Amino acid sequence: MTSNPPIQADYLRLSVAPMMDWTDSHCRVFHRLLAPHARLYSEMVHANAVIHGDRARLLAMDPVEHPVALQLGGSDPALLAQAARIGAERGFDEINLNCGCPSDRVQAGRFGACLMREPVLVAESVAAMIDAVPAHVPVTVKCRLGVDDDHDYDRFAAFIDAIADAGCGMFVVHARNAWLQGLSPKENREVPPLRYDWAYRLKRERPGLVVLVNGGIADADEATAHLEHVDGAMLGRAAYHDPYLLHVLEHRWFGTPLRTRGELLRALRPYVEAQLAGGVYLKHIVRHLLGLFAGQHGGRAFRQVLSEGAHRPGADWRLVEKALSLTEREPRQPLQVAGGAA
Ligand SMILES: Cc1cc2nc3c(=O)[nH]c(=O)nc-3n(C[C@H](O)[C@H](O)[C@H](O)COP(=O)(O)O)c2cc1C
Repeated sequence: MTSNPPIQADYLRLSVAPMMDWTDSHCRVFHRLLAPHARLYSEMVHANAVIHGDRARLLAMDPVEHPVALQLGGSDPALLAQAARIGAERGFDEINLNCGCPSDRVQAGRFGACLMREPVLVAESVAAMIDAVPAHVPVTVKCRLGVDDDHDYDRFAAFIDAIADAGCGMFVVHARNAWLQGLSPKENREVPPLRYDWAYRLKRERPGLVVLVNGGIADADEATAHLEHVDGAMLGRAAYHDPYLLHVLEHRWFGTPLRTRGELLRALRPYVEAQLAGGVYLKHIVRHLLGLFAGQHGGRAFRQVLSEGAHRPGADWRLVEKALSLTEREPRQPLQVAGGAA
C-alpha cells in the first residue's frame, strides 16, 4: 500500500492555482512575498518534457518558494513516476497530477480533463508516482467535477475513491465540469456552472481526505466562506490579476502584519536586481506585478509605465520606482491662507 503524508494545515488554506505561462518561478517568488503561508503551484509541465526537456528552465524554482508543488501532465504511469521522482529530487514539496485541463492539445495526448473518465489509469498513475517519490512528498490530484454532460455526483465520488484507494489523500476540485467539445480552455473556465456543493459534500462524506476548492473565487470574503466547508481555497485569476488579495488573505487568515503595496514591491528589489545581474530581462519579472495596484490610485499608470518600459534595453529597478511613484499621492500641500496681511 502506498503512503500519503499529511500536509501541515496552515499550508493548505490558501493556494495559488497552477497557470500555464503565468505561475513561473518569478511569479511564485512574488506571490510568496505577498503570502508566506500560501501553497504555490507550478505551471503544468508534461512528464515527457520533464524527462527529455530543458529541466533547468522547466523546473526552475527559487528556494524562497517553498512550499511549492510541481504540476505534471500525462497519463503514462511509468513516465509520470519518472517525472515525479525528478520533481521531488529538484526539491518540489508536492507533485500534483493535472486531471482538469480541457484543451484540444491536451485531449489529443490523452491527459488533463479527459482523465476524469479514466479512474483506473489515474489510480495506476498516482500509485506509481507515490512509489517513486520520497515518503514526505505528497502526490495530489487537481480535477474537475466531470466532463461534458456527466452530472452524476456518484460518478465523481467514484473517481475520487479510486484514486484515494491508490494512496492519494488530497484533491483540488475545480468545481465545474470540463466541456471537451466546442469550448475553448478560456470558456471552460467560465461557462460550465460552478457547483461548490459537490466539493463540500466530498469533504463532508470523506473527512479523511484533504479537499481544496477552486474556481471563480473572486474576493477575500468568498475565499473565507469556503473554509467553513473544505480545507482550503485555491485562487487562480483573481490572485494573478489582483495579487494584493493574497496579502489581504495572508493577513486575515494568519495574522501576518499588513504591509502596503509599495512596501511589498520594494521588498522584491533584491530578487529583481539579482535576476537582472544574472541576465534575466526586467520584462520577464514585471509582467507578473502589473496588477499590484489594480483599482488603486495610479494603478493604470503603474501598469502602463511598467508594460511599456520593461521591454526597453537596459530597463532596471529605476523603472519600477518610477511606476511606483505614480501610485503615491502627492504630499499634502500646506493649507493656503486666503488673503494677505490684514
Ligand atoms: C492562464 C491560465 C492557465 C492555466 N493553466 C493551468 C494549468 O497549467 N494547470 C491547471 O491545472 N489549471 C490551469 N488553469 C486553470 C486554473 O488552475 C484554475 O483551475 C482556473 O483558472 C479556475 O480558477 P480561478 O477561477 O480562480 O481562476 C489555468 C488557468 C489560466 C487562467
